[in-house]
Amino acid sequence: MAHASAVVYRDVHLSAQRPQTVTQAPSDHPDGTMPRIAFIGSGNVARSLIGGLVALGVPASTIAVSGTNARLRASLADDFGVRVHRDNQDAARDADIWVLAVKPQVLRVVCEELSALAREQRPLIVSVAAGITIAQVERWLDADVAVVRAMPNTPALLGASATALCANPHASSAQCAQAQRLFEAVGIALWVDDETLMDTVTATSGSGPAYVFALVEAMQAAAQAQGLPSSIAQALIAQTILGAGRMLCESGEDAATLRLRVTSPGGVTAEALKCFEAGGFRELIAKGIAAATARGAELSAQNDA
Ligand SMILES: NC(=O)c1ccc[n+]([C@@H]2O[C@H](COP(=O)([O-])OP(=O)(O)OC[C@H]3O[C@@H](n4cnc5c(N)ncnc54)[C@H](OP(=O)(O)O)[C@@H]3O)[C@@H](O)[C@H]2O)c1
Repeated sequence: MAHASAVVYRDVHLSAQRPQTVTQAPSDHPDGTMPRIAFIGSGNVARSLIGGLVALGVPASTIAVSGTNARLRASLADDFGVRVHRDNQDAARDADIWVLAVKPQVLRVVCEELSALAREQRPLIVSVAAGITIAQVERWLDADVAVVRAMPNTPALLGASATALCANPHASSAQCAQAQRLFEAVGIALWVDDETLMDTVTATSGSGPAYVFALVEAMQAAAQAQGLPSSIAQALIAQTILGAGRMLCESGEDAATLRLRVTSPGGVTAEALKCFEAGGFRELIAKGIAAATARGAELSAQNDA
């Protein structure tokens, strides 16, 4: 598995009190040992985070995983050498960090099942469940524990995730650093102060890969309509997205500057951009992200019903 380097390029909402860059420490546990991490749920997110951690040199012996799916558990044990358990409590017992990596609709049951152990052990809880608030996790666990809510995105599978994090006041700066390091194993991780912004994060970077795929589909269809063979259009556009993304991440320049640099007045690119603007391109994107943000808040509220 290839892993992109975790570099923070431009961040618009970094919290002052949260650690902004965290170097890989051989040990950050009070007794000098590596923190033990339990993944509850053994699906895509667990697999990508475990792969990232192991690739960074985190010993597999410090990682335990539980999940209902025997096939997924077995493949994690085979691929990474981590300990696997059928029972969530067995994985969570004695772990310093619990990563709750199950679907939002089963998180309540999982938290209630782990509640007594959470009160006893007071681990750092990291929840990746989309739309589940910190308050919901606290309530379902019924424990005064440190909770970090995270929203990664699917490129985590390639080590190129964009993750936003926020924490409750119980989380110490060392625990925030641990959570940040977890997600930096698969990309970049930035803090937001205001948890309500997690709905915007979900609507932006969480859903963002799908927006890019939709743009690619539209470009591909347009190029094909102009006669370009499908396979050529597909390869050229995919590489264009990769190249443009790398320029955004690596050049230190913002999108507007990069756009202007490839747009000669009166030229070919300017002609297309003029059409996009006239068709309400920006307004449409703003409307889509606002609608997705509102939908995220709505789904989140339903979890309390
Ligand atoms: N995928 C992403 O890129 C992404 C991005 C942001 C946030 N998230 C969030 O991350 C969470 C996990 O997503 P995912 O894509 O990894 O989902 P996933 O692939 O479906 O993995 C979830 C796993 O949890 C297992 N599970 C179900 N009930 C369980 C229980 N009671 N105890 C333990 N494990 C149980 C499932 O087993 P079965 O196979 O038996 O059902 C499944 O293997 C979700 O809450 C999602 O909202 C995902």
